[in-house]
Parts: sequence; structure tokens; C-alpha cells
Amino acid sequence: MRVIIEPTYERLSQWAANYVAKRIIESKPTPSKPFVLGCPTGSSPLGLYNELIKKYQAGELSFENVVTFNMDEYVHLPEEHPESYHSFMWKNFFSHIDIKKENVHILNGNAPDLVAECEAYEKAIEKAGGIDLFMGGVGPDGHLAFNEPGSSLTSKTRIKTLTTDTIIANSRFFDYDMNLVPKQALTVGIGTVMAAKEVLLVCNGHHKARALQHIVDGEVSHKWTASMLQMHPHAILVCDEAACDELTVGTYKYYLDKERGNL
Ligand code: GLP
Repeated sequence: MRVIIEPTYERLSQWAANYVAKRIIESKPTPSKPFVLGCPTGSSPLGLYNELIKKYQAGELSFENVVTFNMDEYVHLPEEHPESYHSFMWKNFFSHIDIKKENVHILNGNAPDLVAECEAYEKAIEKAGGIDLFMGGVGPDGHLAFNEPGSSLTSKTRIKTLTTDTIIANSRFFDYDMNLVPKQALTVGIGTVMAAKEVLLVCNGHHKARALQHIVDGEVSHKWTASMLQMHPHAILVCDEAACDELTVGTYKYYLDKERGNL
């Protein structure tokens, strides 16, 4: 696992966007061989999305032949609700780029058969040729997508019940009212993310420091599900200084030294 330490959130977002753009451009995507991108929600990737939008606006990057699969969606929250992940993605990313609507995949948390919806999602990923690059964030409890502590590290897309920690964390988007936060979500599994050719997570802020410590300095554990990335052949964690607050000095220095001069 590569760990990139950038001084600020802005620099972290630029590093991540440069990397994602480079990968898309290098793959020379076509309609028959598109680039398949996994997309997260949350506040962490907002800077990354803004940087990608800027690249599109500057004519440096096109999403015409990019197919996306989102990580997760709340159960029984109307799609048009401002806090649904459908709304989030169109508001913060898709509406600002040249992606084709039919190339966007987001789980339907209102599907009549949620189990079938999850199975169909896995099949759609497979049909698209698998995910080339899965971008992601990290929850303060080390969760990836909605794979809460205790989730199977080989899990596939399924329904998950959110933990109280996550409901409290996400209540900031629901007027700080925990009762308004959906209690369940559909989410890709850790196994789904692990099957991607590359994974790039962004992790910023002091409130993520404990999670980062477990993911980088700790053992692989279902208690910190993002720690499974230690087993991925091509995983990158892009962090800001504040998120590194709990890393050992040795680990911190090691990664700074290791990445010196790399893009
Ligand atoms: C939610 C999402 C995760 C995200 C996490 C952290 O739980 N399902 O994918 O990584 O929030 O969000 P934020 O980036 O706002 O801290």
C-alpha cells in the first residue's frame, strides 16, 4: 500500500485528482473499452471531484468513455432527497462533466427487492469488465463505503445496518437529527472494492487520525474494514497532515521518504 502525505486538504485533493486523471487518460478509453471508475460520497472526496471538474473544464480530461459505479446508497431515502447519494453525485460531480447518464450506476435503495438489486449490481460491474480504479473515503471508525466494523472482509454488495457511530457522524447532513438518518444502506462489499484493479482512498482531518493509524500501522482487521487494503496489490491512501496525527513517527517519516520525488 502506498501512503501519500500531503500538507493540506487542497494538496491532497490535487494529488488524487492528478492520479485519477492520469489513469483515465493513459487508458485511452473508448465506447467499447471504457474506463470503469468507482465513486464515493462524503465530504472527503469533494476536493477531488472539484479538481477533476476543473480538469474537464480546462479541456484536459473527458468522461465521455468513463463508466461509474457508486459505492453505496441509503435504503428508503427518496432518490430526489437532497442527502441521497444520487443527489450528491449529480450535484457535486456528474452535472459538471461530460459523463453519459447511461454510464452512471448508483444502487437503488428503493428497489422493490433489495437483495436482487445488490446481486444485479455485482453482475453489472462484472459485465463492465470490473472496476479499474475505485476511489473512496474512510469513516472515522475505519469503514469503507458502508462496511461497518465487523463486516466480512470478503463481502460483496449487500444491505447493511448502520452503526450508531455512523448515524451520529452522518446526522450532520440531516439537521443533526439522528432520527432523520436512514438506518440501513446498500453498499458494495470489501470484496467488491478488493476486486478493483486499483484503489485510491482519501483521508483527511484529525477526526480520521485514529482510523488511519489502524489502517496503516495496525493489523488487517474486520474492526477497521479499510485495513483490508493492506492486502490489495495496488492501493493508495492519500492523506493530509492532520490525518497522520496518530501514526508513529517512524511510519510517518518512512512514507515521506519513500514517496519523495514520486507523483
Ligand atoms: C459515509 C460513506 C463513506 C464515507 C464516510 C466518510 O459513511 N458511506 O463512503 O467514506 O461517510 O465521510 P466523510 O468523507 O464525510 O468523512
